[in-house]
Amino acid sequence: MSLRPSQNPENLPNSAHTAVDVVLDTAYQNITDAQWDELFALARKSHLDTFIADMFAGKHINLSEDRPALHSALRNLSKTPVMLDGKDVMPEVINVWHRIEALCNKWVGVTDVIHIGIGGSDFGPRLAIESLAHVPGIDSRGMRMHFLANIDTAELARILDRAQPNSTRIIIVSKSFTTLETTMNAKAAVAWLRANDCTKSQISKALYAVTANVPAAKEFGVEEDHILPFWDWVGGRYSVWSAVGLPIALQYGFKIFEEFLAGAHAMDLHFKNAPLEDNLPVIMALTLLHQQRKHGVKAYAAIPYADALDWFPKWLQQLDMESNGKSVDRDGKSVQFSSPVVFGSAGSNAQHSYFQLLHQGTEIIPIDFIAVRKPMSDRPEAIAHHRILLSNCLAQAQALAHGKTADNPNDVYPGNRPSNLLFLPELNAFYLGALLALYENRTASLGALWNINSFDQPGVEFGKILAKPIEKALGSGSDHIDPSDGIDAVTAARINFLNS
Ligand code: F6P
Repeated sequence: MSLRPSQNPENLPNSAHTAVDVVLDTAYQNITDAQWDELFALARKSHLDTFIADMFAGKHINLSEDRPALHSALRNLSKTPVMLDGKDVMPEVINVWHRIEALCNKWVGVTDVIHIGIGGSDFGPRLAIESLAHVPGIDSRGMRMHFLANIDTAELARILDRAQPNSTRIIIVSKSFTTLETTMNAKAAVAWLRANDCTKSQISKALYAVTANVPAAKEFGVEEDHILPFWDWVGGRYSVWSAVGLPIALQYGFKIFEEFLAGAHAMDLHFKNAPLEDNLPVIMALTLLHQQRKHGVKAYAAIPYADALDWFPKWLQQLDMESNGKSVDRDGKSVQFSSPVVFGSAGSNAQHSYFQLLHQGTEIIPIDFIAVRKPMSDRPEAIAHHRILLSNCLAQAQALAHGKTADNPNDVYPGNRPSNLLFLPELNAFYLGALLALYENRTASLGALWNINSFDQPGVEFGKILAKPIEKALGSGSDHIDPSDGIDAVTAARINFLNS
């Protein structure tokens, strides 16, 4: 097994690389030094270094939409100018930070915040709120934070049952402000305030928006000084660093939000400046690329051995599959490789679910194990439990790598199942920010290596368009379907069944 040497402090495995105190151990990828050399040569041939520089320089790397992908500016706590088409974007970014901080001080006595948004306007803040709740001693400022994403009214009903209308704030979060789930849920939440005798001025006071489409938010009825903008140069799934992350500041305080940004910023500086050979996001991208070329892998798993990170794989699914789940490259030509299916959940629970397949199934599924060195509670049992959690994580990685022979074929573990192991020193706002930025930059690196535009998502539109005539047909209650609506015979039969 190759252990590519690196300049690490004592006690780190030889196969480990570090950035921002996050350790990545690639030992069980089973990549030889010669193969690493080939991989870095390939990265250079793919102009990955130029791509990274262009991304931070605000070049229009999102070719199909003719935009940059400048989410790194949102966490640029060093406040150095970030030029976009000749203008520094930082003053606007900093102004939004001030407004977020002001809201943290202003919303005293608020019992409930309903954050309404979906996809990239939901996963990031939801993950951060869930992940940081465990931090011993963290102050959740007496506010209940609710996330409303699904158009299914079950979620709406659950939240509205719990919230107190007179002391609730509603934040409508939508980059486009045209997403049907979000606008419908926002209307329902406003109707709930009205039905609970809130006056017009109370409703105005309660209603806030975070969007890149300020006119649409105003049109909806949100007062202009209650609208926190972000910009078209921020992709939805890369937007938690903007005012989309407002719940983090409201729930845990502005300082914690700043620490979250600081962790991500530190990871960005590493990604921007480290040579490819020491660059964590790049190394992680190359491990997946290697396994894809070697085994044609169709799926990979992310398993955080931290219950607080149970939402992480869901966030990662959108990040990876919406960014890189494509069949054509930046020039419109077919690609050989793009994003595998991503799945995962917290270990050790995951072991009792799908690990059977990971060990003995016919597919090779690379895994990113994520472990946290410090226990994640201050319970008296924490140290003993944490030792078991970590030992499970290490044992799974070893078992998958080496496998086991046996006379009985049923007991054979084939082994050679690759994995990365990431160690976070602890799970706090800083390292959560660093972890998410590590993965964002890894996703962008993979896009560059596959020559895929990681910043658009044309594939999500078709189904949305088709839903409109179907909704109309479902609403009509009749079995007559207009053939010009593009509804096929299978779907027509299903509509008729539902209408009967
Ligand atoms: O699912 C498609 C998508 O456009 C995502 O890219 C985005 O994160 C989500 O919908 C929500 O979009 P918006 O923030 O514009 O409401």
